[in-house]
Amino acid sequence: MKVVVFETEEWEHQACLRLEPEHEVECTRQRLDPQTATLFTSAEVVSTFVNSQLGADVLTQFPRLKLIATRSTGYDHVDLDWCKAHGVAVANVPDYGDSTVAEHAFALLLAVARNLVEAVERTRRGDFSQAGLRGFELRGKTLGVIGTGRIGRRAIEIAGGFGMNVVAYDLYPDEDAATQFGFRYADLDEVLADADVITLHVPATPGTASLISDREFDLMKPGALLINTARGNVVDVPALVRALADGKVRAAGLDVLPQEPLVREEAQIFRGASSDGYDLKALVANHVLLRFPNVIVTPHNAYNTQSAVRRIIETTVENIEAFGRGEPRNLVGER
Ligand code: NAI
Repeated sequence: MKVVVFETEEWEHQACLRLEPEHEVECTRQRLDPQTATLFTSAEVVSTFVNSQLGADVLTQFPRLKLIATRSTGYDHVDLDWCKAHGVAVANVPDYGDSTVAEHAFALLLAVARNLVEAVERTRRGDFSQAGLRGFELRGKTLGVIGTGRIGRRAIEIAGGFGMNVVAYDLYPDEDAATQFGFRYADLDEVLADADVITLHVPATPGTASLISDREFDLMKPGALLINTARGNVVDVPALVRALADGKVRAAGLDVLPQEPLVREEAQIFRGASSDGYDLKALVANHVLLRFPNVIVTPHNAYNTQSAVRRIIETTVENIEAFGRGEPRNLVGER
């Protein structure tokens, strides 16, 4: 098969060479978008990370496409309906980094709880004053975990080490895990009302879009902290801006924002790209958010450790090999 691997660094290119000579492999640093797609239209397999948007405008340019091997757990950047209608399989990397992402959620939590970014910036300037840096302790506080899948459960384990109590919400509660890790399930409203810190670990689906919006912020304890390492559109960002401005939310640590591809390259809007399908209001809200001193944002980096990125490329190569042998694995959605 002709395999095109987008968004690669040199070492990933080396890892992909294992697919040869069985398959013909081409690697590029570029993201897959409507323009770059025109350069690789003979691809039968494409592999990308989440910075590429695989909608109909891109996918129609690959008439021989059989497999999309996304180098991520989430696959909301892929138009699964289009793939199903056109017989294109989609494989993901389901479990490369439960700890990787959960640890980043706690990195964000500790950073906002102890005003770490401001503290470090101050000392770099030679300013050793402590004014405004008084922090928030985790021990004895309640962590509300929304989504108790692989990453959510790892976050619950870590919370145990900090001496936090955990209350969780999931569409499909896993009572065995609750017994094993010593937490309890409650409905979403109760979790929001009880938690001092809320951490999000649900996938982006129609059911989780704006799961946390004005109503949910109203239900939270005054001064709650919000951590999001899931997907940007799980939080209604204009509602978060209101909650921060009202002091309802004390601080937020976010690894993900809505409209991320556009956030990365906003100038696209002025290069003739249509703004149709983009939520420009969310984009403006992102900008407002970035100016709050009690908000820290990382650039969708929770997955990004040395060992996790190695596991991602290895699983992706295995996904492509298995598909080539007629034994597909890690498929998502229905064909
Ligand atoms: P998972 O599939 O193991 O767990 C997701 C959990 O969410 C499941 O228990 C499911 O029942 C629950 N869920 C789904 N819809 C729900 C709803 N409407 N309400 C309540 N619960 C719901 O997924 P995993 O591996 O824990 O990953 C979670 C998400 O984390 C991924 O889908 C991805 O979007 C995000 N992620 C972010 C990364 C980053 O670098 N920031 C890296 C990897 C994943």
